[in-house]
Amino acid sequence: MRETITFVLNNRIEQVSNLPGDTTLLNWLRQRRRLTGSKEGCGEGDCGACTVVVARREAGGEMRWHPVNACIQFMGMLEGASVTTIEGIAPQGDGAPDLHPCQQVMVDHHGSQCGFCTPGFVMSLFAAWCNGDGLAADEIDTTLAGNLCRCTGYRPIVEAAAALTVRAIPPAYETSRRRREAELMDKIAHDETVVLGDGRRRFIAPAQKEAFAQAYAGSPGATIVAGATDVGLWVTKQNRHLPDMIWTGRVAGFDKVAKSGVHWRVGPAVTHAAAMTALAEGRPDLAEVMRRFGSVQVRASGTVCGNIANGSPIGDLPPMLIALAAEVELSGVASNRQMPLQDFFIDYGKQDRQEGEFVSAILVPRAPAPQFRAYKISKRFDQDISAVMGAFNLSVSNGRITDARIAFGGMAATPKRAAMAEAALIGSQLELASFTAAAAALAEDFTPITDMRASADYRRQVAANLMLKYGMDLTGTPVPRLTGSGGDLAPGQLRETV
Ligand SMILES: Cc1cc2nc3c(=O)[nH]c(=O)nc-3n(C[C@H](O)[C@H](O)[C@H](O)COP(=O)(O)OP(=O)(O)OC[C@H]3O[C@@H](n4cnc5c(N)ncnc54)[C@H](O)[C@@H]3O)c2cc1C
Ligand code: FES
Ligand code: FES
Repeated sequence: MRETITFVLNNRIEQVSNLPGDTTLLNWLRQRRRLTGSKEGCGEGDCGACTVVVARREAGGEMRWHPVNACIQFMGMLEGASVTTIEGIAPQGDGAPDLHPCQQVMVDHHGSQCGFCTPGFVMSLFAAWCNGDGLAADEIDTTLAGNLCRCTGYRPIVEAAAALTVRAIPPAYETSRRRREAELMDKIAHDETVVLGDGRRRFIAPAQKEAFAQAYAGSPGATIVAGATDVGLWVTKQNRHLPDMIWTGRVAGFDKVAKSGVHWRVGPAVTHAAAMTALAEGRPDLAEVMRRFGSVQVRASGTVCGNIANGSPIGDLPPMLIALAAEVELSGVASNRQMPLQDFFIDYGKQDRQEGEFVSAILVPRAPAPQFRAYKISKRFDQDISAVMGAFNLSVSNGRITDARIAFGGMAATPKRAAMAEAALIGSQLELASFTAAAAALAEDFTPITDMRASADYRRQVAANLMLKYGMDLTGTPVPRLTGSGGDLAPGQLRETV
């Protein structure tokens, strides 16, 4: 076991020990290393002012550069990785330009006014530039959705991004930077458990599954951390001190999405970014919801298993995965069991997880689901948590509905199936009247609450409308269009119209 974390910072090896385990990267950069280019705007993963780039090797050995919100990244999560901050991107070597191309385009297109957001935007561009993707005209909004600017109105920044050229063979200064980065990462690689702590608060990063299970069993009350896009906020927003944290991110094999005959098996450290392609195969609605999940930064750190294990009633994946009949696998030192995902959620904040057990995989059926649809309703289109999330999956034979799996988020204390609406549909003809009946049955399934995201009435109405939207989609019924400034339908009229 090592009590020092080792990582690469701006292409130099850095070793850190004797630090509280819940120290964030942003606080360390700014307060200990005096690297103050990365800014703190929100401290909760929303504004992107703290964006740095973390390079890791993918499962296949390829290097990938991830934009990461340093404000909710714990220091122990950097073990073995390479971090580049805004201070580290200036090109080095003979004939290299003064500014990095990602900085130069911001200058050329007046992409910076007060400058507070600028390092974060540049680092998001830098990650896309290194990876060679995310800079096509229709990708730029997604690439920059995790960075907020209050001054420019965004147009100059989007124009700057559009002007960035990515060469198939990077310039010489970048090739040598990448070579050195890879060499340093290979040099510091090892497979011992690492513990970062100050005697009171520890961050434990095991490298093997057995060591992980034993560490968790041996530390009752410890917090499992995956991408820290929830846990990070407990520290930065709730000012909680977490005595012991155990990280899934370094355990061999935990980052794998494995394909079996029937399932995708998604390990505990698989991020949303890494899972998207597999899970969304043949399911465009799932792809769209995952693309709107947080931001590039959140998807680069946040995990699929974290989105399940947190038990949130408004998580985006649970309703979709319940509708697809996914299962959750739980493991402990000497135990392993599986259950249908919907059974995992018992009540608000309560999941079916025994002491010492952790989520070791999510098993998502690969069978085609041509009738699967998912609709996310949030106040903002990008980078927002759902007010209501509806996922629908029917089996249909000879024009008759033979099976139904319908699940909602935001309608109850847990992600929950709509049992009465499902019952109303099963055995019915595939026609709009069946969905009108199912929309009415939702009133028996759910008693939603009013909170800052939506009122109970709004949630009820939206859920019923989503059921009708689904029915219209499957039956090919045209959706009534709103016209004029306020629309020609009174509130609630949509239901009567159909
Ligand atoms: C800016 C921002 C935007 C967001 N947008 C969305 C969104 O659009 N949709 C959405 O659904 N969520 C969103 N989230 C919430 C969050 O990103 C997701 O829930 C994410 O999937 C959590 O995964 P994580 O790996 O970061 O979990 P962590 O924060 O590491 O952990 C979350 C919880 O799960 C537990 N846990 C994690 N892994 C395991 C495991 N293997 N076994 C047992 N327990 C475990 C932890 O102990 C903790 O209680 C957003 C968050 C932020 C900060
Ligand atoms: S400070 Fe806003 S995302 Fe980190
Ligand atoms: S330039 Fe001022 S916040 Fe973006």
